[in-house]
Amino acid sequence: MDSPKRLLVGPLNIVVIGGSLAGLMCGIALVHAGHKVTIIEKDDNERQSHMAGVCLGPDAEAYLTSHDRLKNAFSHRSRRVQALNSDETIKIFVNGRRDITSWDTYYFRLRACFDQYVSSFYPSPPHSVDSDGSAIYVCRQQVTDMFPASRSDGGMVLSILDHNSQEVKQTKADLVIGADGPDSFVRSKYLPAVKRQYVGYIAWRGTVPESEVSESTRSIFSRSVTVHMMHRHHCIMYTIPGINGSLEPGERLLNFLWYTNESEESLHDILIDGVDGHRHHNLVPAGRVREGIWNAQVQRAKDVPLPLPFLEVMIKIRGPFIQVITEFCAPKAAFEDGRVLLVGDALSLFRPHTAFSGTQAAFHALRVEEYVGRRITLQEWEEKVIRFSNLHWAQSIWWGKFYQHHMAVALLSGLQYWWYCGTDRMKSWWNGEEPLLRTSSNRVDEYES
Ligand SMILES: Cc1cc2nc3c(=O)[nH]c(=O)nc-3n(C[C@H](O)[C@H](O)[C@H](O)COP(=O)(O)OP(=O)(O)OC[C@H]3O[C@@H](n4cnc5c(N)ncnc54)[C@H](O)[C@@H]3O)c2cc1C
Ligand SMILES: *[C@@H]1O[C@H](CO)[C@@H](O)[C@H](O)[C@H]1NC(C)=O
Ligand SMILES: *[C@@H]1O[C@H](CO)[C@@H](O)[C@H](O)[C@H]1NC(C)=O
Repeated sequence: MDSPKRLLVGPLNIVVIGGSLAGLMCGIALVHAGHKVTIIEKDDNERQSHMAGVCLGPDAEAYLTSHDRLKNAFSHRSRRVQALNSDETIKIFVNGRRDITSWDTYYFRLRACFDQYVSSFYPSPPHSVDSDGSAIYVCRQQVTDMFPASRSDGGMVLSILDHNSQEVKQTKADLVIGADGPDSFVRSKYLPAVKRQYVGYIAWRGTVPESEVSESTRSIFSRSVTVHMMHRHHCIMYTIPGINGSLEPGERLLNFLWYTNESEESLHDILIDGVDGHRHHNLVPAGRVREGIWNAQVQRAKDVPLPLPFLEVMIKIRGPFIQVITEFCAPKAAFEDGRVLLVGDALSLFRPHTAFSGTQAAFHALRVEEYVGRRITLQEWEEKVIRFSNLHWAQSIWWGKFYQHHMAVALLSGLQYWWYCGTDRMKSWWNGEEPLLRTSSNRVDEYES
């Protein structure tokens, strides 16, 4: 059966669970289509970024063209992907652009567009227009339960815990969008078996303002995504906006990552909080990594040794953090006859090598807009988002294993990825559409000097 007819008549009352990038992108598109949207976020309005990059990608470009009412640039443009070899020579992989911003710059921009939220990043948000629906963002409220309304009007009922008053209240919605991230409450309710899996390696990361590194190091990294490959581990560096989203040379940040394989046992030690001693699971935030752990890793970097430009940046990191790489891809994205949809990292969590989560969030938001606007059916919506996620999940595994694993094992993942690519081509050809595989990172552009 297609979605219940009542869902798609007139302005809807839509609740989005989770007010990060995917939730905001869905929210903005639906407000622009005239619906009443309430985003419910368990955290605060002002939050600490991970100080890491978010790549825009082709779907984000398409999304922003339609829905971003701010005009200035907010990402740093890299012009090529290159390898820095041990002897410090450079090998160019491909000349192609990658627009990379930071989570906080993106978040505050989307907030400015969604509910005209004023931040130090965007002190003058754009005005809303008359045809917009209402946009409400509530923070410090957590969705703790959800079920179909008992009467035949067919909505969903949500229980919401207010973190200020500790009260639980209920609210109704015609449509619920689960944009509640990798530990999604919505996914755990409908797909309890789909959980984050550790992939066998972690990233040691941190940022340093460009002004704090030598001129030679700055010039190697400033216009490229730079990789250094070693035997089953690798480093990567790229540039992201600085404080308040600044793109000024010198204020921008060099973003360092070093992926190393770590056994489950050694994780216990690495993930212990440096302040209160509890064990983290997926991220040890800046300021919480134990000094001894980080210093030992810096020593490893000197022993390997990493090429000097990488080493220089690593040594200057003041607030290092550690990210445990986890992944999953859910097999289903629509529930309750299309009244509950799963999007973004709640649906599918990629390995970071393809820098694809931001683009996935934009792709999902654009398809949600089409579904709610009745331009595609529920079945088409679900088929597209699942195919897109499977395809790019497989792609991120292939890249990850290529860098961190035995080549034979990596090739098996490669085969699986190519299988998904083949299926994507077949289905797209059958439907008379463009394939969903995105290859923009390999698009060849002129390297303007
Ligand atoms: C604070 C923060 C910083 C980040 N920094 C980076 C970064 O630097 N680089 C990067 O690549 N990615 C970062 N990410 C992840 C990035 O946002 C995602 O990979 C991607 O853009 C898609 O995100 P998402 O919106 O689907 O999920 P997420 O970004 O994980 O957001 C999910 C949101 O849902 C909220 N939530 C969860 N459960 C509930 C509930 N029951 N009720 C209400 N709210 C709930 C969470 O608090 C969170 O805000 C960050 C995420 C967060 C939350
Ligand atoms: C960021 O913006 C705020 C508000 O405009 C300002 O007070 C602060 O000084 C800015 N920070 C930097 C480093 O520019
Ligand atoms: C991780 O890397 C180490 C060497 O750095 C290697 O011995 C180990 O086999 C790798 N793990 C996997 C899963 O490939």
